Amino acid sequence: MEQFGIQPLTEEIAKRLPHSHRLVRRGVIFGHRDFELVLEAIEGGGEYAVMTGIKPSGDFHLGTKLTSEEFIYFLSLSPRARGFFAIADLEAYADNKIPLEESYRIAVSNLMDMLALGLDPKRVYVYRQSQEMPVLKLAFIFSRSVTYNTLEAVYGPRPFGLYLSALVQAGDILNPQLPDHGGPKPTLVPVGADQDPHIRLTRDIAKRYREEFGFLPPAATYHKLLRDLTGQAKMSKRNPMGILYLNESLESARKKVMYAFTGGRATAEEQRRLGGEPEKCVIFLELLSVHFLDDDKKLGEWYWECKSGQILCGECKARAWSVIERWLKRHQERRAKMRDLAERLLEEKTLA
Ligand code: TRP
Ligand code: SF4
Repeated sequence: MEQFGIQPLTEEIAKRLPHSHRLVRRGVIFGHRDFELVLEAIEGGGEYAVMTGIKPSGDFHLGTKLTSEEFIYFLSLSPRARGFFAIADLEAYADNKIPLEESYRIAVSNLMDMLALGLDPKRVYVYRQSQEMPVLKLAFIFSRSVTYNTLEAVYGPRPFGLYLSALVQAGDILNPQLPDHGGPKPTLVPVGADQDPHIRLTRDIAKRYREEFGFLPPAATYHKLLRDLTGQAKMSKRNPMGILYLNESLESARKKVMYAFTGGRATAEEQRRLGGEPEKCVIFLELLSVHFLDDDKKLGEWYWECKSGQILCGECKARAWSVIERWLKRHQERRAKMRDLAERLLEEKTLA
């Protein structure tokens, strides 16, 4: 935060939010840039955009759930908020060689999840990068003033497709401020901390093109990078037990939860004597606190039961699974009904 100038998301800021969210209360969303601008719009009834994108490289999992929940939350804070959602099919091609037709299918599936998570289809503009001429034009315009040296300094030496994707992403983020979408406005991009290089680059670009387009530098909120279920720092498809997909079978999800990394002690005797370590435990932190248990009081009780050695990991995991199972079942039932709506939204871009 110090090195790159990310501001902490303080309690004073949290208090000004019209309604709270567990991800803010629990410090999962920990930092921001220029979020005050968006707060002022919320408080003053001004228009603002919430913008995000997802690389359609696979089914929804806990990581994409997090970004979507934030997107939906920040949209819910004012009736004047407008959502912009980019399907990053060009990036998926540049980065993962996924053909555009396959991205399309994945995007429908991803949108079904977002709708099931509560996205209001009337308040969002959805598009695919490959089909969005204004975004591609912006990327080209920006390419005029971004040098190879800058890109290499920000991203390291990478294939040129990734540099192009970065310019397209800058186009995504500034697209809501084009005249077609009502012109310059505060724009919030809720992302994982790993996306900060893109935010910094886009903020620089916005300043450079201020004369020409009137851009305000985009604001951002940042969430922490979470471990996978096995406790690895980074999710990887090479470690399938680490990733919980929102539409996977309950049986397979249950196995993953039971296999998850815990803060348990070496023996039951030791755990009764010393207590568990919830602050190290994926079941407690990532699964209950970040994702599945909204109730602060229940979460607090759970913490102390672990900490005091009253509960052991086997029983605790079974109990956690019943919470997760209930959530997944409900999500999957809702999701199954969303295919038509998701396809329509993707074809028509907006249903408003
Ligand atoms: N680069 C993002 C990712 O890796 C996807 C993305 C594309 C994005 N365009 C965006 C994120 C605009 C935020 C805003 O998932
Ligand atoms: Fe984690 Fe539960 Fe074990 Fe505590 S008892 S370490 S919360 S699995």
